[in-house]
Amino acid sequence: MTVALVGAGPGDPGLITVKGLERVRACDVLVYDRLVAPELVDEAPADALRIERDHLEQDEVNDLLVALGDHHDVVRLKGGDPFLFGRGGEEALALAGAGVPFEVIPGVSSLASVPASAGIPVTHRGLSASVTAFAAHDVERLDAAALARAPGTLVAFMGLAGLERLAERLIEHGRPAATPAAVVSAGTTERERVVTAPLGAIATAAEDMPTPALVVVGDVVSLRAAIQRAGQRGAPRSREIPRAASTTAAETSGNRFRRSTRSFGPATPTAPIASVRRSKIGAATPASPSSASSRSTA
Ligand SMILES: C[S@@+](CC[C@H](N)C(=O)[O-])C[C@H]1O[C@@H](n2cnc3c(N)ncnc32)[C@H](O)[C@@H]1O
Repeated sequence: MTVALVGAGPGDPGLITVKGLERVRACDVLVYDRLVAPELVDEAPADALRIERDHLEQDEVNDLLVALGDHHDVVRLKGGDPFLFGRGGEEALALAGAGVPFEVIPGVSSLASVPASAGIPVTHRGLSASVTAFAAHDVERLDAAALARAPGTLVAFMGLAGLERLAERLIEHGRPAATPAAVVSAGTTERERVVTAPLGAIATAAEDMPTPALVVVGDVVSLRAAIQRAGQRGAPRSREIPRAASTTAAETSGNRFRRSTRSFGPATPTAPIASVRRSKIGAATPASPSSASSRSTA
């Protein structure tokens, strides 16, 4: 019995890794973030317990993984990559501390994939040779001077709500107001929206953009127009999850924990979504369809 911390990718369900999908298809319990593609949640076996994580505090998630990992094959499915602003490190440490076997299956982070989907390469020879990724949910606590000085591209996670102040602080500390900037919302999904503007005007331009959104600042943003002219229209979102491989991913991946027989099998029917309330942590059992909670597709 083990826990797999799996990156679900940035939104398009086709951007999960082969190995990650194989684990989802073979799990007993799926603990997932609200923002992961619903198609991936549906890929878990019909009889798997599904637990939406967003009702739980991080400590409760850690405890839940430790409790379930002793007796079940658990997949903890997280948006993007588990270890990039995903608190996957905290979950891994909790599992390690409790002696529960676990593995980490990296995912396609939004860091480069979301800008790429919008036609923005985060590095480009002659324009940007480095990328600085940072969490921008608390703009006043950022070292804006260091960020303004950082060469190359800035990528701000969770930065939409404080975008006006973020732009102000970067400009105050020396980033030119004319620096190209972009906000990409729901990148790689059918709801993807992109706005570009100079840094000094990006907050106004992005006023109506919904979350999740990534803010990109740097000269690479100016490549978007040419890349789009050259044919890129944003990668079309995957409508079907690939299947029908003759060899299981577990057989080829050297998985230490299991050799799955369910991987890449026929599609499992959509299962009821189980809900586990805080009071039930530690005694999680599959919920009946009548107690199914709704799963947001936001
Ligand atoms: C808690 S962080 C998780 C990041 C994730 N672990 C990763 O590797 O992409 C959530 C933030 O990532 C960014 N993000 C994730 N997916 C996104 C998407 N599809 N489009 C735009 N931004 C996204 C947003 O800034 C969002 O607020």
